[in-house]
Amino acid sequence: MHTLALLLLAALQTPSAPDGDPAPDFTLADLSGKTVSLSSLKGRKAIVLVFAGIECPRSTAAEARLGDLAKKYDSSELAFYIINSNWSETIEAITERVKKVGFPLPVLKDPQNKVADLFKVDVQPTAVLLDANLRIRYRGLIDDHKSEELVKHAYLRDALEAILAGKSPEPAETKSVGCAIQKLAPQRTSGTVTYSKDVARILNQNCVTCHRQGQVAPFSLETYQKAKAWSQELMNTTRQRSMPPWKPPRLPLAWGALGADVADRRSSH
Ligand code: HEC
Repeated sequence: MHTLALLLLAALQTPSAPDGDPAPDFTLADLSGKTVSLSSLKGRKAIVLVFAGIECPRSTAAEARLGDLAKKYDSSELAFYIINSNWSETIEAITERVKKVGFPLPVLKDPQNKVADLFKVDVQPTAVLLDANLRIRYRGLIDDHKSEELVKHAYLRDALEAILAGKSPEPAETKSVGCAIQKLAPQRTSGTVTYSKDVARILNQNCVTCHRQGQVAPFSLETYQKAKAWSQELMNTTRQRSMPPWKPPRLPLAWGALGADVADRRSSH
C-alpha cells in the first residue's frame, strides 16, 4: 500500500480509552538481571509503569519528579517501574545514567519492545496505571509540561490518587507527548537512498554540530546506529520544523532510508 495511505490509517486508529482493560502479563528483567512478572505484583493497590528512555528530553526531564512521586507512597502498596523499550539503549547505558543522575526507580529492560507493543505504547514517556486487579485505569501523559514549574495538570499523580481512593481516574487517557519509542522495525529494503551517500552528509551538515558527544544536544547523531535509532524522531522533528533549531533546509525525504535496511551501510565504515 502507498505510504501515505498507511500513515492515514495509522492516524485514524486511536486506541480505545483504557478504563478497565485487563493488562497483558509480562516478565522482564531489571538492570541487575532479576526478573519481575506483572502477575506477581497483584495485590498492590496500584502499579505504575512508565515507558521512558534515557535520551529523549521529555523522558529525562520527568525523571526527578517521577522519583518524588514514587517516594510519597509505601512500596508495599504501590509498585513503580520504568520500562525502557528503546533497542538502542543498552543495559550498560541505562545503568550508567541511573548512576549519574541517582535515578531512584527500578528500570526494566524490554529488549524487543514486546511489552510496549502489548500495551500499545509508541511514545516515550507514557505512563500506564493499573489497579489492584491489574486492570489498566489510565494511560498517557505524566503531566502537561516538560518543565515541572509549568505543570498545570499532573495527570498521573491525580489518576493514582483516584485509584487509591477507589475512584475512576478522569481522564482515563491522554495523548502522550515526547519521542517515538525506538522499536525494532521489520526490515525493508530500499536500494536508492543510503546512509553513507545521503543521510550522513545531511546530518553532518545540519545536526552534528550540536548532536555529538559533549555538545548541547542530548544525544549524538554521529553514527549509523544512532541515526537509525532516532530515525522516526528525525522525521517527526524535521516535518514539524522543530529541528534543527533554526530555519531547516528541505531534507526529510532521506530519513526514510534509516528505517529501511540501508543497503550499503558497510561502506560508511
Ligand atoms: C544548534 C544545536 C542543534 C542542532 C543544529 C540540531 N539540534 Fe536537535 N536538539 C538540540 C537540543 C539542545 C535538543 C534538546 C532539546 C530539549 O531538551 O528539548 C535537541 C533535540 C533533538 C531531538 C529530540 C526530540 C526533541 O524534540 O527534543 C531530535 C529528534 C533532534 N534534536 C533532531 C535533530 C536533527 C534531525 C537535526 C538536524 C537536521 C538537529 N536536531 C539539529 C540541538 C540541536
